[in-house]
Amino acid sequence: MSKERIAIYPGSFDPVTLGHLDIIHRGLEVFDGLVIAVATNVAKKAMFTADERVELIQEAVGGDPRVVVDHFDGLLVEYARDRGAVAVLRGLRAVSDFDFEFQMASMNRSLLPEVQTVFLMAGEEHFYVSSSLVKEVAQLGGDVAHHVPPGVAEALRIRIAERGGAR
Ligand code: PNS
Repeated sequence: MSKERIAIYPGSFDPVTLGHLDIIHRGLEVFDGLVIAVATNVAKKAMFTADERVELIQEAVGGDPRVVVDHFDGLLVEYARDRGAVAVLRGLRAVSDFDFEFQMASMNRSLLPEVQTVFLMAGEEHFYVSSSLVKEVAQLGGDVAHHVPPGVAEALRIRIAERGGAR
């Protein structure tokens, strides 16, 4: 009777944070499996390549058989359809996220009505954490170890050193 219910968890993940991992763990309480999908064609200039972002996520989620990490370009809804996903999973931190998320979910629904967008709330300890802030703080020499998995903290240290160090 039961068919596996897979959700796509898309994002830039540049880099993955503990907030993202919190959403992944919560998502696994709701869905049978998750495809974590790194978007390669986002306008923002990325610090890590798509392959690096995939690797950092893989390292952070370990070998959980319910999780696949992949990257995609093109439309999210097409990727979701190709993967046979029933839902797109997104994390919500604060009211400020809602406007953009509402627009995206509505647009995605107009393109592919059979795929639902499901929002999960990150734990409150992650409410203020974003990849952009993590990068900014790390670039300025601040400690982000409480907000990212150890592999990401190390990757940030190396990337920033390659670029001439924190300033
Ligand atoms: O982590 P982000 O940057 O908030 O993720 C945004 C993302 C990647 C989910 C969004 O930009 C996206 O879905 N990009 C894929 C292209 C697409 O389908 N665009 C139309 C969205 S309505």
